[in-house]
Amino acid sequence: MNTFYITTPIYYANTLPHLGHLYTMIVGDTIARSKRQRAIDTYFLTGTDEHGINIERAAQKAGRTPQEQADYVVSYFTKMTSAFGLDTAHGGYDIFMRTTYPFHYEGVSELWRRIAKAKTPKGNDAIYKGHYEGWFCAPCAEYKTEDEYQKPKNEGDPPTCLIHDTPLDRVSEESYFFRLSDYDQALLSVFETQPDFVRPEPRRNEVISFVRGGLQDLSVSRLKSSVSWGVPVPDDPDHTMYVWFDALINYITAIGFGNEEREKVAGFEKYWPALHLVGKDILRFHAVYWPSFLLAAGVELPRAIVAHGMWVDPNGRKMSKTLGNVIELDILQKHFSIDAIRYFCLREMVFGQDGRFGYEALIDRANSDLASGLGNLSSRTLTMISRYSDSVIPPGRTAEDELAGFIEQARDQFIQHFENLAFSRALEAAWSIVARVDKIITDSKPWDLAKDENQKPTLDAVLYSSAESLRWLSVLLYPVMPESSRAIWNQLGLEGSPAQINPTELKWGELKEGVKIGEVQPVFPRLDKGKIMSEINAQSGPEPQPEPPQTHATEADAVGIANFIEIDDFAKVDLRVGQVLSAERIPKADKLLLLKVDLAEEQPRTILAGIAQYYEPQKLVGRKVVIVANLKPRKLRGYESQGMVVAASYGEEGRPVIATFTEDVPNGARLK
Ligand code: MSP
Repeated sequence: MNTFYITTPIYYANTLPHLGHLYTMIVGDTIARSKRQRAIDTYFLTGTDEHGINIERAAQKAGRTPQEQADYVVSYFTKMTSAFGLDTAHGGYDIFMRTTYPFHYEGVSELWRRIAKAKTPKGNDAIYKGHYEGWFCAPCAEYKTEDEYQKPKNEGDPPTCLIHDTPLDRVSEESYFFRLSDYDQALLSVFETQPDFVRPEPRRNEVISFVRGGLQDLSVSRLKSSVSWGVPVPDDPDHTMYVWFDALINYITAIGFGNEEREKVAGFEKYWPALHLVGKDILRFHAVYWPSFLLAAGVELPRAIVAHGMWVDPNGRKMSKTLGNVIELDILQKHFSIDAIRYFCLREMVFGQDGRFGYEALIDRANSDLASGLGNLSSRTLTMISRYSDSVIPPGRTAEDELAGFIEQARDQFIQHFENLAFSRALEAAWSIVARVDKIITDSKPWDLAKDENQKPTLDAVLYSSAESLRWLSVLLYPVMPESSRAIWNQLGLEGSPAQINPTELKWGELKEGVKIGEVQPVFPRLDKGKIMSEINAQSGPEPQPEPPQTHATEADAVGIANFIEIDDFAKVDLRVGQVLSAERIPKADKLLLLKVDLAEEQPRTILAGIAQYYEPQKLVGRKVVIVANLKPRKLRGYESQGMVVAASYGEEGRPVIATFTEDVPNGARLK
């Protein structure tokens, strides 16, 4: 059956959502709409993750019960998803899943029981009882190993979480364990036989190297006396399930696993397996733990796990409540249209990589691409039709319209990029249509053609082509900007909705002549940057600006040479020119960038560089750098770093500035 199931992560119900959370919902919603446009029966899930110590503590702090806390956050989510057009009433999600739903408890218990009866691929019990001793970060809901926390400065203090900078909880108690260590080979063979199982490619490599590094058994329960807010372990009421165990299972309980009533409403058989959309920070849970649970229970694995990057602030730090640098949804909603926000999110972030979010950048994009771009094309075309063609689509269809070939090609590119989740590139392809049609109008000058009766056929042809291009654009762009696409569609006088037109079936010339167009209205009004920015600043304080680079190295940096070396000493260092092929952040390693660098060798090198706080990864791609090529390889965060990027370092914090060339130089050239 032609069905598709897509999920966002379910969000912690401890705090109110921000742009980072909205983003995953926008991407999920966009994909769901594009599937529905092709008449694929689609199920879209989002929701909240409501158990665990973190929710318990948030509730306590707010003077609420955990259930009241979850209800409070969910009521905000419901308002927010409606305001942003993401809920069922607006054609968005099919379920707002909550892990406190009774049918979820039933399904989770069923899965636990199945795993508890299962043997691992190595013939051991998949779940066993043991004793857990270690450190736990409540905000991450994750046990931390030694390389994942900061050791305390004073003996006796607890270590702190590298992400949240908050003290960890000591856990020492009886616990059920899932025998994850027996699943490494099974997982590796899934990654091998289904190369698209984890996407994009760098994330897949990261997961593979994590699994190859060896897996440890996972504690999947807490004593009820320590964490009472959770799903009880079947047949052992002294234990509650680990929150991630319960949360991941929501993806199947939501559609009816372990509950017949729910199965009738949604349909596990019908929709599973799902495509899971997740932030790269929670990839391990989805790409390692979740498939292992399912393998143990004998349930089919997900279709794919697709990880996106993080929204970071202008200083490159992940947007998070703890850092106080989040983009609040109330502010966004007050000043921007939903479609401008959706467009910005999908156009600005290269899917899979991190993206910087700034209000000013949003205003600039909305004004250039939407108001002056698509919006202007739409209003000038429709205004000319009303002026020169009596508000009726003219009979201007020509058999061999050169534009037809161009637009078909752009459509195909758009679809291909979209399928690959390269939204930014898909939108570029759509905007190539806007630019082309704009040029046709500017070159043919319809306002002059209209003065000469003999030019009527040419004028009609230009107007028809422009209007027909707008019809195509509104179909292509519907999943990204549903409201505006509908508005353009209606203004063209078309019936039905672009939501129902399969873009692969668009045919040039199907716009009917003689149809009266609708009332012409601007689709994307221009935004007044000065006014909006001063209102936002008054409401939330000024946007953080990138830290200004310090202008010069201090003298102390330049001198201080202790010993002279011989030329032979220098010759030991093999410095080579390399070109950065890709650059990305590493989850939970704020300082490191993972680079692939071409040194004109058989394979590009993997190099880790401690420059993440100062360089935006995308901007490094293509850059020529200097690499210490004969540095002994070193393992860091599960990657082997095969060299070092040379950079100047100055100022108190040792700010790096990468050494580079101003002239052209081939990769692999040696520095002497
Ligand atoms: N509750 C877990 C998920 C359980 S799924 C079975 C969780 N919740 S969360 O609320 O912390 O995060 C939910 C999603 O929001 C994650 O995919 C995370 O990556 C995303 N984001 C949170 N901050 C973000 C940014 N600054 N940028 C982009 N996405 C971010 O983890």
